[in-house]
Amino acid sequence: MRDAVLNMLLDNLGNFVSGEDISRQLGITRAAVWKYIRLLQNQGYVIESSTKKGYCLRQVPDILDEALLFRGLNTSLLGKNVEIYSSIGSTNARAKELALNGAPEGTVVIADEQVQGRGRLGRSWVSPSGKGIWMSVILRPHLFPQQVPKITIVTAVAVANALKRSAQIEVGIKWPNDIVCGGKKLCGILTEVHAEPEVIHYAVVGIGLNVNLSLEDFPEDIKDLATSLRIEKGKEFHRVDIIKAILQEMEKGYLQKLNDDGFAELLEEYERRSVILGRRVRVIGVGGEFSGYAEGFGEDGSLMLRLDDGRLERILAGDVSIRGERGYV
Ligand code: BTN
Repeated sequence: MRDAVLNMLLDNLGNFVSGEDISRQLGITRAAVWKYIRLLQNQGYVIESSTKKGYCLRQVPDILDEALLFRGLNTSLLGKNVEIYSSIGSTNARAKELALNGAPEGTVVIADEQVQGRGRLGRSWVSPSGKGIWMSVILRPHLFPQQVPKITIVTAVAVANALKRSAQIEVGIKWPNDIVCGGKKLCGILTEVHAEPEVIHYAVVGIGLNVNLSLEDFPEDIKDLATSLRIEKGKEFHRVDIIKAILQEMEKGYLQKLNDDGFAELLEEYERRSVILGRRVRVIGVGGEFSGYAEGFGEDGSLMLRLDDGRLERILAGDVSIRGERGYV
């Protein structure tokens, strides 16, 4: 009922709705309407009340409210099943647990804060409360395990398109999994799979997007490498709007672009946004460090690197970091 009251107010954002209308339409007493209004106000919704005119929703808070998330989310798979936490260890860890226990494809885990957020290559991921999108999506793709990088590519392009649409920002993609802006990292993607040699049981795609973090929110060692939408655009964003855009774009890519034709088109989009294509990069892997010229991306999501001796090396995303010749990109 709280969600129904909220939806009526949202339908009339900035305008008054009378208590009588709400009570009649929802079949509850005026006292019950007042109770839900108080509840919403306590949760941060700015609602003006007037004895004559009723209630007017003036401001929607930046909170991870399921009712806000479901409102206008026109997906058929992603986000049909959602778990929202105020604090959690890691949304990827929780999503893996859910996937193992049979959670349906498209299940999404989102948290306000992660206290054990994880990045690639065993790194930690800074996830302060209320400031970013810390989210994981469970997929059950019909792919071979070696094709998993395709999922990261679909996700990177989806995040880029979603950011353009919901935050009016143009971003670049740094292979394999970073979304960058102004030469700094805005978002990271961590794709983890549970697979046998021939079949993927599930994939969990974790997205960490720095939304409203200020410079002080980043630890000293990543201050020069990381950024947020707030830093780039000079204003704050509602995370739910961006989450919805990401889920919609991701579903579109996942359902329509994983086949051969669709993926070729997607790779073109990925290449257009690539910040390393046609540049010299350093590859830092377990076997050491080497440099080369980023020549293209393979159908499997690998990086084709032209080495100094002329050989073309195919680099798999799994265990390498990429640096520009002088720094992060
Ligand atoms: C990277 O760039 O190293 C990947 C970072 C991925 C971070 C996200 S935040 C949501 C999800 N849960 C995690 O513990 N990690 C991913």
